[in-house]
Amino acid sequence: MSDEVPSSWIAAPGRALTGTIRVPGDKSVSHRAVMLGAIAEGTTRIAGFLEGEDTRATARVFAQLGVRIEAPSAGERIVHGVGLHGLRGTDGALDCGNAGTGMRLLAGLLAAQAFDSTLIGDASLSKRPMRRVIEPLATMGARIDSEPDGLPPLRIHGGAGLRGVETTTPVASAQVKSALLLAGLYATGETIVREAHPTRDYAERMLSAFGWPIEFAPGFARLRGGHRLTAIDVDVPADFSSAAFFIVAATLVPGSELLIEAVGMNPRRTGLLEALRAMGADIREQNRREQGGEPVADLLVRHAPLHGIDVPAAIVPDMIDEFPALFVAAACARGRTRVSGAAELRVKESDRIATMAAGLRALGIRVEEAPDGALIEGGRLQGGAIDSHGDHRIAMSFAVAAQLAAGEVRIDDVANVATSFPGFVALATGAGMALRD
Ligand code: S3P
Repeated sequence: MSDEVPSSWIAAPGRALTGTIRVPGDKSVSHRAVMLGAIAEGTTRIAGFLEGEDTRATARVFAQLGVRIEAPSAGERIVHGVGLHGLRGTDGALDCGNAGTGMRLLAGLLAAQAFDSTLIGDASLSKRPMRRVIEPLATMGARIDSEPDGLPPLRIHGGAGLRGVETTTPVASAQVKSALLLAGLYATGETIVREAHPTRDYAERMLSAFGWPIEFAPGFARLRGGHRLTAIDVDVPADFSSAAFFIVAATLVPGSELLIEAVGMNPRRTGLLEALRAMGADIREQNRREQGGEPVADLLVRHAPLHGIDVPAAIVPDMIDEFPALFVAAACARGRTRVSGAAELRVKESDRIATMAAGLRALGIRVEEAPDGALIEGGRLQGGAIDSHGDHRIAMSFAVAAQLAAGEVRIDDVANVATSFPGFVALATGAGMALRD
């Protein structure tokens, strides 16, 4: 958590969202760029690196492991790769902060090293399930101890000597897939990961860009140990998940017309566009192009009235981080919106089904919870007080909700917004939202 960020916001209806904005770099890509740069040969230059607490924590972990990382300016990193076998063990615990991605991917990478390591995290991360990586990694020969119920800290025993396996991931999770692929770099033989529901493929794309032979398709990845990674320049696209708050806000606030530039449009990330368009949103993709091997586009979002839908379960993994924002859209839509097949929301930075349901109810919206989703009845939002439970995306979603509320909304426990979206308040107020510390 950052010291500079206050713990509460007061949000209220502002003006229509207008102008042109750019949101910070993609969190998933930033984590992976540091990780692969660290174990590559040569110097990796990262542009558009997310200056969030999560990704900075990952960079700090690699510094502890002996990797020199320079930060010549905000959003820039120069990673002096030490090669696949060049990381150095440390006695100190490696602190992943709030980042599930950091901890789970590091578990895969560190299980393959010659030295022992310990991964710790903040109060939220210390409650998140790690068996999903511990168990499949164990089938490769990894030895990882956890607290009861598979909770952090993780004590990883080095020198295990991994062997490749063929696995189907137990849950739709790019973090689990990526952990296995990172372990697979060091394993004997072939590592094959299959997924019932395809998830984001940044690890696969980036491994390939760093020169590692890898075969992949939606729901499938295969690689062999024993190659090398060669440093590249990584140009990180803007994070679709951060753009999502502005996409929803501009859709909901009458009179809005907002251009969001250079947004990462990896198809495994953009399920929210599909859902919002089915609800009646007006979102145009302009200037589609490639940036750093990823599709990007400028998104022109105009206000449009929404109606409720049943969100297709098949697109849940493609919008897994966008449900807090989607819940807000649903609360402002005409009729009911049903979310199902999304039990993973219960083990994110907070239980996002419970936290969103409680928050929306506090603002006068009817929400029925289900184990794997919710039924949200669109209505008129009132003012009130919200506890974001230290979850960055919950805090930002209620800042959006407040733009439509009949009174002020106080949002508590917002410091963790800095984990993924430094500068959110300035960008949001500049675009038209009313939000103050
Ligand atoms: C991420 C994968 C997703 C997502 C998280 C980032 C990644 O988590 O929610 O914000 O970078 O691999 P799961 O893999 O647990 O679904």
